[in-house]
Amino acid sequence: MPQDDARAPGEVRTYVIRNTNMSPQRREAYRRLCPIFCIPYEPPGRDVRAVFEQPEAPLILEIGFGMGYATVELAERNPGVNYLGVEVHKPGVARVLRQIEKREISNLRLVHHDAVEVIRDMIADETFDGCHIFFPDPWPKKRHQKRRLVQPGFPPFLARVLRPGAYVYLVTDWEEYAHQMLEVFEAAAEFENRHEGFAPRQEWRPRTPFEEKGLAKDHQIHELYFTKKVPVV
Ligand SMILES: C[S@@+](CC[C@H](N)C(=O)[O-])C[C@H]1O[C@@H](n2cnc3c(N)ncnc32)[C@H](O)[C@@H]1O
Repeated sequence: MPQDDARAPGEVRTYVIRNTNMSPQRREAYRRLCPIFCIPYEPPGRDVRAVFEQPEAPLILEIGFGMGYATVELAERNPGVNYLGVEVHKPGVARVLRQIEKREISNLRLVHHDAVEVIRDMIADETFDGCHIFFPDPWPKKRHQKRRLVQPGFPPFLARVLRPGAYVYLVTDWEEYAHQMLEVFEAAAEFENRHEGFAPRQEWRPRTPFEEKGLAKDHQIHELYFTKKVPVV
């Protein structure tokens, strides 16, 4: 576990900007499609539900979608659900934008920005019905672990923007981080574990190249599935 349990989300960045080289097609797609399908990071923000064609549909937040393989597939498979993907990696955003256009996906919108700042600065209370965090950066070196997204301050921070009963679904191939996530969420008063310890694989989650890489290294995949407690009245 990290030493500094009091660290607030946003104090330390959970990412570093990696290679942002893009093919001319991706560059063109980003320039043309981001103004259409991205929500700008503009605190204090607006009602993100209102940007979707079906604003009343359930809305799922995905933090760090990478190249967006699972994101696009889930959105296409579930037209009755809205998805908001937040990612800092520009080539990933550009790839997903192209897929939104090509596959005519109307229930997926993106924010190209730090998800911690997005949640903190521009999302209203009780906005989301679920949250996906698939293979968050594990920051394996001890001195980097302060960068991990899932720290003790994270569950209450996330809980504010989730509706009562909303789920949080986390997946990692990094064993030690998986145990940290479990410990942190089990200790959080806002959430309850829907399983004993780790969850079984959720069969509806598409397998991504990232997961394949972990499996190729014989890493076990750990899944966690929690829900936000519903207040007893
Ligand atoms: C290890 S990759 C996994 C990508 C994807 N979820 C998958 O399963 O293939 C983690 C991703 O999270 C993104 N990320 C990390 N911290 C973030 C933050 N605070 N806001 C948005 N994206 C973030 C990184 O840019 C990276 O693309």
